[in-house]
Amino acid sequence: MSALVVANWKMGVEHRRALGECRVLARSTTANERARVVICPSFPDIAAIRSAFPSFSIGAQDCSGYERGAYTGDVAAADLRTLGCRVVILGHSERRRYYHETNSVVAAKMRLAVKVGLTPILCVGENRQEHQRGSAKRVVWRQLSVLTQQPIRASSQIIIAYEPIWAVGAPRPAGAETIAQMHAEIARWLQKFGIQKRQRKILYGGAVDSSTITSICQLPHVGGVLVGRASWTGEGLAALLHATS
Ligand code: PGA
Repeated sequence: MSALVVANWKMGVEHRRALGECRVLARSTTANERARVVICPSFPDIAAIRSAFPSFSIGAQDCSGYERGAYTGDVAAADLRTLGCRVVILGHSERRRYYHETNSVVAAKMRLAVKVGLTPILCVGENRQEHQRGSAKRVVWRQLSVLTQQPIRASSQIIIAYEPIWAVGAPRPAGAETIAQMHAEIARWLQKFGIQKRQRKILYGGAVDSSTITSICQLPHVGGVLVGRASWTGEGLAALLHATS
């Protein structure tokens, strides 16, 4: 199985632990296993991890929607690329919820990410009420429409993470049926929009751990997972990789 495992460290891994967790990961996994993981640490840890573990793939958890200038606190997509990031998570539900990021903000960020050669991981997903009302598809389509505002080339790689908000941070992931159904819908949408199979990956995210990752990654159209809490230690991350080896 060649499932991609994206570790979203959020703000959950303290600066003084970051390198140590990477050391544990390096010790407890094979090079092949590590080739399937992308670690997305806090901004201040990106450079140190890159220089201590040059073979690791690193991503960022966000980037600015502005190219450069007087935007206090923002981090430019171009600088993330210079630091060696390969991917950037965009439109995560926590950013949408706590920082009121709209689809148009996400679109601006994505435009810059693609421009500098970062692979965007666009997070989409409905909240509990939308899920219960049966409007998940409509919500996800609206979030995917950010892609229609992008200059996506045939060579661009696009990653979508389906993360139902009600499963993020929850005790259990969404059920297999929901995951399979939504992934099939997303695959259909991307196909219709002209994003070829080889250009895209669809991940599932929300309460994935080492006991659930295997069955989730076996579902049709699931190319990997975006994992929060279960990836916050080197040991946990290694367990996720072992389970999908
Ligand atoms: P979780 O987070 O695995 O802790 O539920 C997933 C995510 O928000 O990407």
